[in-house]
Amino acid sequence: MKVTEHPSLKALNSFGVESSARLMVTLEQEEDLLTLPRFNPDTDVLLGGGSNVLFASDVPGTILLNRLQGRSIVRQDSSHAWVDAGAGENWNELVHWTLENGLSGLENLTMIPGLAGAAPIQNIGAYGVELASVLDSVTAWDMDRAIWTVFSAKDCQPAYRDSYFKTVEPDRFFITSIRLRLDRRFQPRLDYAGLAKELDAMGISQPNALDVSHAVTRLRRRKLPDPAKLGNAGSFFKNPLLGHAAASALAKRYPDLPQWQATEGSSKCSAAWMIEHCGFKGCRAGDAGVSEKHALVMVNHGNASGAEILELAREIQSTVRNEFDIELETEPKIIDFRA
Ligand code: FAD
Ligand code: EPU
Repeated sequence: MKVTEHPSLKALNSFGVESSARLMVTLEQEEDLLTLPRFNPDTDVLLGGGSNVLFASDVPGTILLNRLQGRSIVRQDSSHAWVDAGAGENWNELVHWTLENGLSGLENLTMIPGLAGAAPIQNIGAYGVELASVLDSVTAWDMDRAIWTVFSAKDCQPAYRDSYFKTVEPDRFFITSIRLRLDRRFQPRLDYAGLAKELDAMGISQPNALDVSHAVTRLRRRKLPDPAKLGNAGSFFKNPLLGHAAASALAKRYPDLPQWQATEGSSKCSAAWMIEHCGFKGCRAGDAGVSEKHALVMVNHGNASGAEILELAREIQSTVRNEFDIELETEPKIIDFRA
């Protein structure tokens, strides 16, 4: 365990915004959790790779920085292998390690920034696959009761960019490890149309898992800004879920607005399209802005504060509300202790 006084958080969030805390405690082994003072959500923040947070203010208390390492194959049968990953494992490195070990299931989730422990928080998803499809269980330290708890995948209540940990009991459980159930025999999941097209463009008709991972990498490099060059947290807003009646009313008014079926009774519609339609794609207010590459991605051109990025995001929400009568939900955790 390492303790730092008044750390700068600029290098610890992918927006690269300036923020600081009173104290930062870096956890490198699970036992460190046993000696911690009680977590206070009114002053303290739990942080992984910082790729899905926006610091709109300083943190008056402590940053708990998860750096719990370790990954291993814990069990195998003829068709599956179960992999345990410490919460501080880099997600993308974990994906590549499983592929190198002949295991598949994570290839569509290649190149998502951040650490393994945050993956269940919003049930990370991309290119037609969500974590839920491979999640076996999650082990977490209950910071209210000071006990270990194991959650089955079902207990995590995974949903689109959501889970039990994000919505029902935020800031109560420190996830210390995750267990994944991966395939020993590759089954391609190419429902996302652009993925099959990318493989086509690569001249691959019978892809293996590495090919899919490579295609996803190419797509992501093309579509999304690199946080190492331009601060961002990926999609800043979720795609709205609409019931059948609302979806067809919207389609009538905006025939070009992309919509696709999400579940039996609901459709998702493209928040990026709505934001672009309202004229925000590539816009800039000082150093806060919206990516020129992708309208869902808010960016920091250098010295924007989190509060400035948040202000522009609120303006986007209000314009979209007036135009479409739809409330855009933010995806990253907004850390704002100003109120
Ligand atoms: P952080 O940003 O550190 O934390 C996010 C939230 O999880 C916070 O509320 C934090 O308190 C909580 N948390 C973190 N670790 C723990 C833990 N161990 N226990 C309990 N709570 C914890 N996401 C997708 O789903 N799909 C994408 O395609 C995608 N693309 C992205 C592209 C870019 C360029 C970027 C910058 C982000 C993208 N994201 C995407 C968002 C982000 O990568 C994921 O949400 C990722 O899982 C965040 O991991 P992290 O370790 O950085 O979490
Ligand atoms: N579009 C626009 N304008 C843009 C960008 C996209 O109109 O500037 C339209 C596209 O034409 C397309 C539709 O929006 O028809 C969807 O675009 P895309 O395939 O890029 O996906 P997305 O819905 O915008 C989601 C996730 C991403 C994930 C990709 C790929 C959310 C909020 N975002 O984006 O996740 O990588 O699909 O699966 O669901 C993240 O969560 O941070 C993230 C990057």
